Amino acid sequence: MNFNMYHTPEGVRDISPKEYMEKQKTKEAILETITQDGFSILETPSFEYFDVFANNSGITPSKELYKFYDKEGNTLVLRPDFTPSMARAYSKLYYNEDKPVKLSYSGNTFVNAGDLNGRLKESTQIGAELYNDPTKEADAKIISLMIRCMISSGLHNFVISLGNVEFFKVICEEYGINEDSEMTLLKLISVKNYYAAEEFLKDMTISDEIKELIVHISELYSTYDNLKSLLLKISNKRCTDAIERLLQVYDILDKEGLSKYISFDLGLLNQYNYYTGVCFRAYTFGFGDAVMKGGRYDNLVKEFGKDSPAIGFGISLDELMIAKQNAKSDPLGDPENRYITFALTKGRLANKTLGLLEEIGITCEEMKDKDTRKLIFVNEDLKLKFFLAKGPDVPTYVEHGVADIGVVGKDTIDEENRKVFEVLDLGFGKCRMCVCGYESAKDLLSSREMIKVATKYPRIAKKYFNEVKHQTVDIIKLNGSIELAPIVGLSDVIVDIVETGSTLKENGLSVLEEVYPLSARMIVNPVSMRVLEARINKLIKEVKEKL
Ligand code: PRP
Repeated sequence: MNFNMYHTPEGVRDISPKEYMEKQKTKEAILETITQDGFSILETPSFEYFDVFANNSGITPSKELYKFYDKEGNTLVLRPDFTPSMARAYSKLYYNEDKPVKLSYSGNTFVNAGDLNGRLKESTQIGAELYNDPTKEADAKIISLMIRCMISSGLHNFVISLGNVEFFKVICEEYGINEDSEMTLLKLISVKNYYAAEEFLKDMTISDEIKELIVHISELYSTYDNLKSLLLKISNKRCTDAIERLLQVYDILDKEGLSKYISFDLGLLNQYNYYTGVCFRAYTFGFGDAVMKGGRYDNLVKEFGKDSPAIGFGISLDELMIAKQNAKSDPLGDPENRYITFALTKGRLANKTLGLLEEIGITCEEMKDKDTRKLIFVNEDLKLKFFLAKGPDVPTYVEHGVADIGVVGKDTIDEENRKVFEVLDLGFGKCRMCVCGYESAKDLLSSREMIKVATKYPRIAKKYFNEVKHQTVDIIKLNGSIELAPIVGLSDVIVDIVETGSTLKENGLSVLEEVYPLSARMIVNPVSMRVLEARINKLIKEVKEKL
């Protein structure tokens, strides 16, 4: 029997009747909340012309679109996202309408992503869009609706991160940070890689105060009072307007009794220049990423003919269902009483980490028992849990939120490429990622000829050769004793970790090129970072002071 007759392709799946009922119930509850608020449902087709999702309007890269052709040879695309379709339909159907228009949608989207990391290629989205209303009241109305959708879906422990992309854009403009540097900073800040952002800004001629502001944009101004205090430090009118807008939106939500869900994050940025003002995301335990996302996008609709401001949000229903399912098995979802769980890399890194934690008063006596067969260690007083794992599994545990914090080598973080925040360079476990081999292989590295590279790190090796050296290589994945490969003639060179260099020396090999330096890093689950913000930030600060 052909197995393809049983299975669905990767990234799509069957939904059983039981699951369907649950999903449908949640969908109906959300749609009821949205329609009761005066939003009318608009249905757009499942596929559209490529142009709708191309140019500036799409948030999905072209290579991740499902494309096909019609009889006339037009390129068509299965919708990867609703916002451009809705903007197109609104622009056409409401072209002569001057008043605000409230529209909603639900349906499936299709993204041909190469790196799924547990995500689906076909997923259900629900959303609401408010057009033609540029006011702060419109911002608050949409955020309020998103909060009420979270509640009606059955989720109660959640945080809404609220930012304004305008603030960061203007700061970059004002201090002469060019577009490329802005993108690099944006990427670093959105994964909370503070020390890399610091390093990146080091040589720029900007005052230390502004550097500090950029690097710590996410965590320093998360409360209403902190954000208000920022107004005294900044004089640029567009920046102060961006902050004022957030404070005003908060005030409106406060009157509705919804401000308790809000945490500000000026580092909440969008990589595709999609949003133009306030932006927001809903995070809850049980799913490692935001389950609802939205923002103001005043420049998108005019791409479709009607110059109209807009704000809206989208809900990924399948991810929301996973969060709901996981929340059920996490009775300690309450942030105050929840344990913070650490995943540590077995061996030397774990020992060093425990030593460092002891310096800030965090101990786990149970772990000191060398004969123990226990897998999870608990410090009841501090509400902390610890477990040991193999390096490559640490980012996986942290991404899935079963561990809030992880300690693992930079090599593993880059190779695993998980959605985690890399918040601290712990400074120990120092070594280097290098291209190594016989001295005679050196010429091959400058020839741009196809060469064979053996490694335990195919992603890092490929990136280095393709993007830094522009050399096409044949990568051979091995799991250990990598130095053997050039000796037995399996590869021309290797990409591997070098610590003391003695393994290379004893085998007549040497470092031919250094890829980059490595050390142990602290990583944090993006949801934990938000929901347990105060406890985790305190811990990061205390550890940092000991480094
Ligand atoms: C690592 C690495 C090198 C060696 C480098 O291997 O892959 O082989 O350490 O250390 P050195 O520069 O101090 O000699 P590891 O011991 O982790 O085992 P592996 O070969 O099975 O990957």
